[in-house]
Amino acid sequence: MKQIELVRGMRDLLPTATPLWRRVEDIARDCFAAYGYDEIRLPVVEKKVLFERQLGEHTDLVEKEMYSFAAGDNELVLRPEATVSTMRAVLSGGLHRKGLLRLWYGGPMFRRERPQKGRYRQFYQLGAEAVGSDSWAIDAEQIIMSARLWRNLGVGKRLCLHINNLGNTDERRGYRERLREHFRRFDSVLDETTRRRIDTNPLRILDSKDESARAAIAKAPRLSAALGDDSRRHGERVKNAVAAAGVDFEENETLVRGLDYYNLTVFEWVLSDDERRQNAVCGGGRYDGLAEQIGGPSLPGCGFALGLDRLVDLAAQCGLNADGRLQCYMAVMGDDNAAFADTVAEDLRNAGLSVWRHVGGGNLARQLKKANAGAATLALLIGDEERTNQEVTIKRLSDGCEQRAPLKLAALQIKEMMNNG
Ligand code: HAM
Repeated sequence: MKQIELVRGMRDLLPTATPLWRRVEDIARDCFAAYGYDEIRLPVVEKKVLFERQLGEHTDLVEKEMYSFAAGDNELVLRPEATVSTMRAVLSGGLHRKGLLRLWYGGPMFRRERPQKGRYRQFYQLGAEAVGSDSWAIDAEQIIMSARLWRNLGVGKRLCLHINNLGNTDERRGYRERLREHFRRFDSVLDETTRRRIDTNPLRILDSKDESARAAIAKAPRLSAALGDDSRRHGERVKNAVAAAGVDFEENETLVRGLDYYNLTVFEWVLSDDERRQNAVCGGGRYDGLAEQIGGPSLPGCGFALGLDRLVDLAAQCGLNADGRLQCYMAVMGDDNAAFADTVAEDLRNAGLSVWRHVGGGNLARQLKKANAGAATLALLIGDEERTNQEVTIKRLSDGCEQRAPLKLAALQIKEMMNNG
């Protein structure tokens, strides 16, 4: 009998891959918990109407990418994302009556896109949603939380943050009209999809990668010029808070996102060294009108989702250790240095690193042998000199590269050495 094959766009995550997935998920869970996010588990199957208008009737996702099927009188879908489901669950459970909610979820999403590397028809997201506050502080907190997550995963250097401000519905309505007028003037040079979008979804043209639209996009009216004082102030406050937290970003006025429910802040984390299409690892923003659109009260929200398939790949490239949590093996020479070594190890753990401290003595060679056997990425050497100078010696085990770091900079230098190994 002919062997039955995997469905196109789906993939198996084999036992060789799952340890790293689990590790990334664990780190993300810890990060969400550090900001007080509670887990919510949502069904994979939802009613189709839940998504149609909310994601946007004229988005690719609703027009052609949903897996839908009839069940009795209902038209059902495999969920293409989970923000709308989260809002449905909040409303049906009455959770919002208790005040601000911070929720996270994880699991498979389904989109019938053209499969390619980094783009699957069943893919996995982790998402965080805050429901019940219209404060700019939530938008900023979520961006800062995601930046912390990248740091904890050791992928921060490879990601670049894009932020935009989409304003409110009225501001966008006026802007849409101006965009339509503008793009109609380029009608003859635009490709068919772009031309269709002039009527259906002109904002989407702004982040089109189509060559024919480039010149027209460059000359398009600016969204920022269409914003009123309140929207502008919201955006400024988000950006100020993000900058104050030391998170770099680029303002990108063509970032409009593929889903229609957003207003005000939108953001994406993209691979900084990759111009390909599938370079977004995480995206999100504010969706203050969503609850009303699905029959609820006025209930503001803001959130983001990261694509695990892409993030796990990136974490692997950046050297995240899949087996166990061991990043650093601390070798300690001399009993007199034991207390100093303990303090340094604790400080590094506070900074999010995993440190295995050697016990049982022995010379350096013996201790390094254990470090290698434990598959550590780095060895940290603590001896008399290090204690006198309040330093730590960091040795990368793959190539023997060695650096001394003052205690204050040790965590930073360790993470750099892990990423650059
Ligand atoms: P999204 O931008 O559609 O947003 O998806 C978020 C992330 O999921 C993307 O940045 C990407 O990493 C990953 N992703 C999307 N499609 C695929 C695919 N076909 N294969 C692999 N990875 C994929 C949302 O889903 C919103 N619900 C995010 C959000 C939460 N906004 C507010 N709250």
